[in-house]
Amino acid sequence: MVTPPAISVNNVVKSFKDVKAVKGVSFTIKKGEYCALLGPNGAGKTTLMEMIEGIQIPDQGEIVINGLTWKSSERELHRILGISLQETHFFDKLKVRETLDLFSSFYDLEPERGNEVLKLVNLEEKHNALVKNLSGGQRQRLSLAIALINRPEILLLDEPTTGLDPTARREVWEILFRLKKEHNITMILTTHYMEEADYLCERIIIMDKGNILADGTVDELVARNNGAEIIEFSIEGEAANGFTLSDEKYNLVGDDKNEKWKITVDDIVSNLPAFLEEMKQKDIKIKSLECRKMTLDDIFISMTGRRLDE
Ligand SMILES: Nc1ncnc2c1ncn2[C@@H]1O[C@H](COP(=O)(O)OP(=O)(O)OP(=O)(O)O)[C@@H](O)[C@H]1O
Ligand SMILES: [Mg+2]
Repeated sequence: MVTPPAISVNNVVKSFKDVKAVKGVSFTIKKGEYCALLGPNGAGKTTLMEMIEGIQIPDQGEIVINGLTWKSSERELHRILGISLQETHFFDKLKVRETLDLFSSFYDLEPERGNEVLKLVNLEEKHNALVKNLSGGQRQRLSLAIALINRPEILLLDEPTTGLDPTARREVWEILFRLKKEHNITMILTTHYMEEADYLCERIIIMDKGNILADGTVDELVARNNGAEIIEFSIEGEAANGFTLSDEKYNLVGDDKNEKWKITVDDIVSNLPAFLEEMKQKDIKIKSLECRKMTLDDIFISMTGRRLDE
């Protein structure tokens, strides 16, 4: 028997009054895959996630999870999915362990399950703390613990690390990494952090204004972006104003202040000499020069003209 994909989203549309939040998106996620849904504010990520989570109903299109739909199999889907929303409101007067016991009771789970998930998210020492006294990172981990309580096959996490400092963020990454390795969990997470998508997920879906702009591995996205390497530089003095290069193939892009410039090439080693020669001919002094591989950030800018974190 062929196993169905973990998640299949087919031509899904959702509007709120005059806002078309999701404009007909399709993709499938395989079992065991970690997928990052990247996009700026208002891209439609939460709306899409909430449709997969059964919280919102699509206006059009279909969502199938493990071969099941929300309409026919709500109970079963609640068992399969572990969900963490973009904004979680806890009961601040409850302790951490009491909060988990409450969620365990929703699923008829054994009392020890609370301790198990606290261990999974490295929060055991806080079991007796009031939820309102947790730090931001600890709250995010509690939210992850709740998502894990029913031993889900599929995790849907909406911005699980937003607002965390780099150390706390890395801690969440390590937990998610371990879950993948040890429990073969499938996951979609939304994020504004390129490094997070790159580090955790083999699959990247970039959304903007309700549409999917790109879908694939980082390497595939780079390969589709004609040119996989970047030369970034700044130049001295007035020369920066109105600066151009002779060859359009470089796809020269400057920032707003003409302080940083970027060109995209297929191979730095073979293109750098001609670039430097042109700068010499134009008598332009280079202040800084950095050569590097294309990143998800570059791909996003080349597709939308904006940075993801703007
Ligand atoms: N319940 C709602 N009523 C009206 N408009 C909504 C509602 N939910 C979302 N929208 C609109 O739909 C669009 C997509 O919003 P959504 O929350 O899905 O974006 P997002 O990608 O999750 O953004 P963010 O990164 O800021 O969380 C936005 O224009 C938003 O204002
Ligand atoms: Mg959102």
